[in-house]
Amino acid sequence: MSSPFYITTPIYYVTDAPHIGHLYTTVAGDIQARYHRLLGDDVWFLTGTDEHGQKIEKKARETKETPQQLADRVVERYRTAWTRYGITYDDFIRTTEERHKKTVQEFVAQLMKTGDIYLDAYEGWYCVPDETYWTETQVVDGKCPDCGRSVEKLKEESYFFKMSAYQEKLLAHIKNNPDFIFPESRKNEVLGFIQQGLKDISISRTTIQWGIAMPGDPKATKEHKIYVWFDALTNYISALGYSKKDPKYSKYWPEAIHLVGKDILRFHAIYWPTFLMALGLPLPKKIVAHGWLTDANRKISKSLGNVIDPMQLAEEVGVDGMRFFLFREFAFGLDGEYTKDVMYQRINSDLANDYGNCINRLCAMTQKYLGEKELDVADILTSESTLHQTALEAVPLMHKELQGFSYHRALDQIWRLVGGVNRFIETNAPWTLARSSIEADQKKLKLVLVHCHESLRIASLCLLPFVPTMAEKALQYLGDKEKPAMNRAEWGKGPKKITITKGDPLYPRLEMKET
Ligand code: MSP
Repeated sequence: MSSPFYITTPIYYVTDAPHIGHLYTTVAGDIQARYHRLLGDDVWFLTGTDEHGQKIEKKARETKETPQQLADRVVERYRTAWTRYGITYDDFIRTTEERHKKTVQEFVAQLMKTGDIYLDAYEGWYCVPDETYWTETQVVDGKCPDCGRSVEKLKEESYFFKMSAYQEKLLAHIKNNPDFIFPESRKNEVLGFIQQGLKDISISRTTIQWGIAMPGDPKATKEHKIYVWFDALTNYISALGYSKKDPKYSKYWPEAIHLVGKDILRFHAIYWPTFLMALGLPLPKKIVAHGWLTDANRKISKSLGNVIDPMQLAEEVGVDGMRFFLFREFAFGLDGEYTKDVMYQRINSDLANDYGNCINRLCAMTQKYLGEKELDVADILTSESTLHQTALEAVPLMHKELQGFSYHRALDQIWRLVGGVNRFIETNAPWTLARSSIEADQKKLKLVLVHCHESLRIASLCLLPFVPTMAEKALQYLGDKEKPAMNRAEWGKGPKKITITKGDPLYPRLEMKET
């Protein structure tokens, strides 16, 4: 029986086309989805778009479209980008879909019945871009404490959610489930925030049109729309067909892992779990927060105007190059400074040279020195070598790191093996062995080439989630045509007989163009 694995990305605002920051979270999800499929797990990978709220309403006024037209147009930019980047999502949810709206309204109606949502009035400072209310003490010099932009004073009739009632229960959950929030440093931030005291939060808006309507209530004097974060967070459940009792919900929901940027951790690690507690539903298994990609140490974002277009990057450095760079260069939990120089260097040195060129070279040498016929490798693989040893050590560590969301450390382990092959070739100089007529040298030549081959075959299987197109091509060159699976990324678990094929360079070096 394969285990269910459910991974989600945040749903993206449709105010504008995706940028490199959105790509980062989405590829992170795709790597996990691909990896778990290769482990044989039963994977469900969800992404989508967040289409309601003031931000969208405002943007649509600017672009002279209806919010729906804006959403319909921008959602295509996301779909196109994700197709280009080989994102293997199983479902794409839009919050304007009926299946979603139905669940949100059901949830709100239930919470109104239990008294977890009640009507009152709200006065506070509102940050429009963040769609968040702040209290007098939270506002810093008239600015939003989160993003630093100006806040406006608003008073409105509002429904509230009794978040305060769940403070202790949430603290206990976080303490009893040490893996609930990752990494540890972010967990401590969340704990600190909860310990300051959770207040009831406003859960409806009368100032916006573009949102899901609150269920009818004779006590309300105005028309209310559901707060966009309540709406948005519900996507993780509405997409599983909760309202129509789809078995996907019971299968995947208890396994949910939410990937989020650090800026939206509070919504996922505090708001969402308390909503779920009030609804009497299980909490997600894990929330993983990553850092930001920065430009001159500032978050890359639409509102700061320093965005980088993923489609253009795909043209420039290739999809695999980009997917690789983002996870080789940056530690997932921390911020990472994006620069073109570093990107080109990293892709050229590690992907084009260490890995791509090494495979091209090895295939050429194997054909030249051992011939183009089928090679029997089974016996040779039982011999010891430093490479054999490295593979035995590195592969289990790669699994541990990737399962622990340390993408860059997982790649470090794969690079231990790839680097090992490059060194093994240099130290053993197959070209010298090939010139020798001594039998022991001929035997060694075969061992060197076959052990390099096996290491690169294993590395390529491990790289499939990161650089799917390139790793698949590498496996073809290396003559491993069997169905890829992670349990074959072990020494001696490949084909007993291999036929090498030679082809174009796997990853031609990038030349930096002056712009
Ligand atoms: N719509 C909300 C999420 C609702 S989820 C129920 C939202 N959307 S967003 O489009 O603004 O951002 C989505 C994700 O992109 C967040 O996880 C955010 O951290 C990530 N990124 C946006 N800019 C980023 C960087 N510069 N670097 C890395 N990720 C960043 O928030």
